[in-house]
Amino acid sequence: MAKNQEIACYSPGLAGIPVTESAISSVDGSIGHLEYRGIDIEQLAEKSSFEETSFLLIYGHLPSEAELAEFTNELHHHRRIKFRIRDIMKCFPESAHPMDSLQTTVAVMGMFYPLPHNLDGHLSDEHVRTVCLNLVGKLPTLVAAHARMRRGDDPIPPRDDLSHAGNFLYMLTGNEPTLLMERIMDVAMIVHAEHTLNASTFSTIVTASTLADPYTCISAAIGSLSGPLHGGANEDVLHMLDEIGHVNRAEAYLHDKLEKKEKIAGLGHRVYKTKDPRATLLQELYVELTKEMGEDPTYEIASRIEELSRSTLGAKGICPNVDFYSGIVYRKLGIPTDLFTPIFAVARVSGWLAHWREQLGVSRIFRPMQIYIGENGQNYVPMDKR
Ligand code: COA
Repeated sequence: MAKNQEIACYSPGLAGIPVTESAISSVDGSIGHLEYRGIDIEQLAEKSSFEETSFLLIYGHLPSEAELAEFTNELHHHRRIKFRIRDIMKCFPESAHPMDSLQTTVAVMGMFYPLPHNLDGHLSDEHVRTVCLNLVGKLPTLVAAHARMRRGDDPIPPRDDLSHAGNFLYMLTGNEPTLLMERIMDVAMIVHAEHTLNASTFSTIVTASTLADPYTCISAAIGSLSGPLHGGANEDVLHMLDEIGHVNRAEAYLHDKLEKKEKIAGLGHRVYKTKDPRATLLQELYVELTKEMGEDPTYEIASRIEELSRSTLGAKGICPNVDFYSGIVYRKLGIPTDLFTPIFAVARVSGWLAHWREQLGVSRIFRPMQIYIGENGQNYVPMDKR
């Protein structure tokens, strides 16, 4: 390709460049609309469960009653983790961030559940199903076990009689959640389960394209999600709201940040140029939760920031994204701030696996090109002449 053609194709961050075909989800950022397998997330949030949404994403259709019962039952029986994986977690430093723990333990899982290596990428349906059940089923247990072990507490074994969301809250807190808390965690997981080709999903499919094992693919995705420009933003939102401290200080804070040309956590999105529909759903969940658990001053600060930013950033299409209200919901459920991004991973693993499964049929290694801007034809300079 000629040099000027290369430059014409170059788009930093691959913005606007299609890199694969996919039938899993679609977003219209101009109107704030998101669909999984053609169904809008508002309907899924209202009518589905995380277990059913995971099935939909991975297998491409809504399950029949029998399919859903079988999938849910199998998922619930894949929650336990091997004691040797728990022993490995015991060796992590107390300072370990839960995302680092999760990334490591998911990579370790690959050693315990080896898969056949085929150069054509073919895996039997049974292998694919076991991988999906193992990862969707065990991620909540890995997160909850680490959260307790770092405090010196024993992990709480999963309960097969609770839903995915209910069991996760139970393993984290030791208390059976109320129906409303369970439903809110379920919806939060549904809306985080998939979002087209974001950075972590792209990491999944790039790694999958080498035919690396799926535990390595998901571990790579978790590493990518941990960054503050991706999943880590929901932690930053809570730190920001704590720093502001009172609704009266919101205006001065925003003004100061914008004057210094600094970004506001939880605002802006590469695709959405209007309010992220997931932010709207999470905000509604928060309001519902306050009916049972009372108001929280943090929410007042967040909604004031949203209101104030409308005239300045909103005009540029910088609006609340999924992370803006998710942390406030999780805090209200009693979850520590540094578990917000791991919860994102617990939900998003369904989307990552759907993309991993879809790419098994593609079998083309990703190998983009660069535009070389360094020197050529240089001579090696001996040490005494440098
Ligand atoms: N606060 C203030 N200004 C913001 C902003 C924010 N959160 N997000 C973007 N902008 C501004 C940029 O400064 C830039 O302004 P300029 O044109 O005057 O230079 C413009 O909007 C475009 O921003 P850019 O960073 O190029 O957009 P992007 O599409 O590459 O980045 C994000 C998208 C998400 C990385 C970015 O909005 C961001 O960093 N947001 C905060 C982190 C966050 O919430 N991440 C979670 C995403 S789900």
